[in-house]
Amino acid sequence: MKRIVILISGRGSNMEAIVRARAAEQWPAEIAAVISNRPDAAGLAFAQSHGIATAVVDHKAFGPGQPGREAFDAELQRVIDGFAPDLVVLAGFMRILTPGFTVHYAERMLNIHPSLLPAFTGLHTHKRAIEMGCKFSGATVHFVTAELDHGAIVAQAVVPVQPGDDEASLSARVLKLEHRMYPSAVRWFVEGQLAIENGVVRQLAGEAQSFS
Ligand code: GRF
Repeated sequence: MKRIVILISGRGSNMEAIVRARAAEQWPAEIAAVISNRPDAAGLAFAQSHGIATAVVDHKAFGPGQPGREAFDAELQRVIDGFAPDLVVLAGFMRILTPGFTVHYAERMLNIHPSLLPAFTGLHTHKRAIEMGCKFSGATVHFVTAELDHGAIVAQAVVPVQPGDDEASLSARVLKLEHRMYPSAVRWFVEGQLAIENGVVRQLAGEAQSFS
């Protein structure tokens, strides 16, 4: 039984999709905990109502600058490791991570980013895609490395950008696919289907890694 810890900062709809898929499809895995850096994250209530352990490591309780960031990540790591996870899943976790933290979870931490990486790393991806006149946008699941929104790509979802789209309409279209793609990617990890070779993910069972 693989143990999964999910980190959130807010709504937690991707976390919810993963929790539901795990139960419906009976993966050989359990959600050991949902951890938030914000005490008011809406997703915490969903996790609690499904009998999942929750914890809060409030980033505001740590000092400013790099020392604060290091101290926060050290405490977060301590709390995560208390749940002995095989996989850490970042699901809308809005923190920049220190290199040491990412090395500690190398090849066992996934993130979902709402763009077709390597395009549009960072924030406001949908707005930037619209402003650039992109015809397609989407989301990417990738392994986490020290460089923000980089790391081996596990899966991508593609949606058309439609005339008249705004940030809200485009993000809603992308989110629908995120909710299909992220549970699939987590399941592949749990089933031992993902191998990283020369920085590229190879899926051993050869299922489709693209969603549209
Ligand atoms: C998603 O769009 C995800 O791609 C991004 O943050 C958002 C999180 O949404 N990283 P939710 O908290 O999972 O509902």
